[in-house]
Amino acid sequence: MFWQKEIETLEMKSLRELQLGRLKKTLAQAGKSPFYSRLFQQNRISPEKIKSLEDAKNLPFTTKEDLRKEFPYGFLTVSREEIVRVHSSSGTTGRATAVFHTQGDLNGWANLVARCMYMTGVRRGDVFQNMVGYGLFTGGLGFQYGAERLGALTIPSGSGNSKRQISLMRDFETTVIHIIPSYALHLRKVFDEVGLNPRKDTKLRIAFIGAEPHSEATRQRIEEMYGIQAFNSYGLSEMNGPGVAFECPQKMGMHFWEDDFLVEVIDPRTEEILPDGQEGELVFTTLNREAMPLIRYRSKDLATIFPEPCPCGRTHRRISRIKGRSDDMFILKGVNIFPLQIDTTLMNIPEVGTNYRVILEREKENFQDRMIVQVEVRPEYFQGDLWQLEKLRKQITEALKSELLVTPKVELVEPDTLPKSEGKAVRVLDHREM
Ligand code: COA
Ligand code: AMP
Ligand code: ZN
Repeated sequence: MFWQKEIETLEMKSLRELQLGRLKKTLAQAGKSPFYSRLFQQNRISPEKIKSLEDAKNLPFTTKEDLRKEFPYGFLTVSREEIVRVHSSSGTTGRATAVFHTQGDLNGWANLVARCMYMTGVRRGDVFQNMVGYGLFTGGLGFQYGAERLGALTIPSGSGNSKRQISLMRDFETTVIHIIPSYALHLRKVFDEVGLNPRKDTKLRIAFIGAEPHSEATRQRIEEMYGIQAFNSYGLSEMNGPGVAFECPQKMGMHFWEDDFLVEVIDPRTEEILPDGQEGELVFTTLNREAMPLIRYRSKDLATIFPEPCPCGRTHRRISRIKGRSDDMFILKGVNIFPLQIDTTLMNIPEVGTNYRVILEREKENFQDRMIVQVEVRPEYFQGDLWQLEKLRKQITEALKSELLVTPKVELVEPDTLPKSEGKAVRVLDHREM
C-alpha cells in the first residue's frame, strides 16, 4: 500500500512539526541566494524569527516574473559545482525561467515520484512507458528516475511517433503509461488505424494522466477506451515537476505531499489566504530543496483543498482537479503557452498587420488538438503573388513553432477582416472540450 508508510500516514500534529522544522531550514537556505537575501533585507525579514507555520503566512510571495527577472542564477543558493541539472521553460530571452537541482534535490524528487506511482499500485516487474517530452520538460526525466527508483522497467519513449509507441507497448508488454490526456484520446484512434484494440492487444492496466487540465468525463473515457485505471498527476517545474500531487486509488482528489511542500490557497486578486474548501490559487513553498528553495510561489493554478481524511489512510491533504488559471496561460498538447509569446513573435514580423486571432480546437474525428493562428497581412504585402504569401505563411509558422514548441496552423487573412482586439484575452478562443 505505502512506499513510505510512516511519512504518508504521519498524524497531523507531527506532520506540522516536521513542516516547521523544514521551513526554518528552507528559509535559512533561501537567504543564501541573491534574490532572497535582497528580499529579506528590503522587507526586514529575519528567517530566525519565524517560529510557527502561522508566521510564514506573512512572508512575501514569489512569482514567475521574479524567476524571469533573476534568470538564470539569481535564486541559486549553492555554488555552481553543486548543481547537476537544470530544467528551463521555453520562452525568448527575458521570458525564460530556470530551476536548478543538486544531486540531493534529484534524489528527493525521484523518491516523491516513486511514492506516487507506488500509491496507485505500480510495483517491481511492471513495465512503464513514459510517453511525454524528455529534455527540458520535467515529465520525461522526472518520471524516468521515479520509475527507476521504484524498480519498474522503464521505456523512455518520449512524445510523438504514435505507431512506434504502440509497437513498444506490445514488444515489451507495457503495463503502465504516462500520457497527456488529449494524446491518450488521439492514440486510441491510431490503435484503430493499425487494427488493434488496447483492451485486448496490450497488457496495459494503469495510466498517469496530467500536464494539462482535463475533466472527470475525459478520465472515464480514457479508462473505458483502454480498459485501465487512470490517475491524475499534477506538478509544475518550479516545484520540481511531477510528484507534487497525485491521486490515490480512491480517485477523490490528489494528495499533495506535505512533508515536501507547504501549500496555501489564496484569492488571486486580494491575495488573502482562503480556508480549506474554498477555490483559489495554489501557493507553494518547497520544504526539502537545496539548490533553489522557493517561498510562497504563486502557481496561478486554481484548485480547492479537501481537508477531510482519505479512506486510503494517508494523512496528507488533497486538492481538487485544476479548475483553471488566474493568468492567461493555456496548455496545448502538454505545452504551456503564454499569449504574449505569440504576440511578440508575430509583431516582430514586418509583414504582419495589426490584428490576429488564436483558435484552439480538438478535431472531432481523431481527437487531434490544434492551434489555428489567423493573421492579418499588411496591405502592401497582401498584393504579392501566392508564392510570396505561402512563403510568409511558412515563415510565421516556423517562427511560432520555434518559440512555442508546437506547430500552429497559420492562416493569412486580408487587413481589417478580424475583430479588433480589446486586450489579450479576446485573442484566444478555446473551443476544446476538456
Ligand atoms: N504527447 C505525445 N505525443 C503527441 C502529443 C502529446 N501531447 N501531441 C501530439 N503528439 C504526437 C502526434 O500524434 C504526432 O505523432 P504521430 O504523427 O506519429 O501520430 C507527433 O506527436 C507530432 O505531433 P504534431 O502535433 O504534428 O507536432 P507539434 O509540432 O505540434 O507538437 C510535440 C510537437 C507533440 C512533440 C510537442 O507538442 C510535445 O512534445 N508535447 C508533449 C509535451 C509534454 O510532454 N509535456 C509534459 C510536460 S510535464
Ligand atoms: P510545467 O511547469 O511546464 O511542468 O507546467 C506546469 C503546469 O501544467 C501547471 O502549473 C498546471 O497549469 C499544468 N498542469 C500540470 N499538471 C496538471 C494536471 N494534472 N491538471 C491540470 N493542469 C496541470
Ligand atoms: Zn487517499
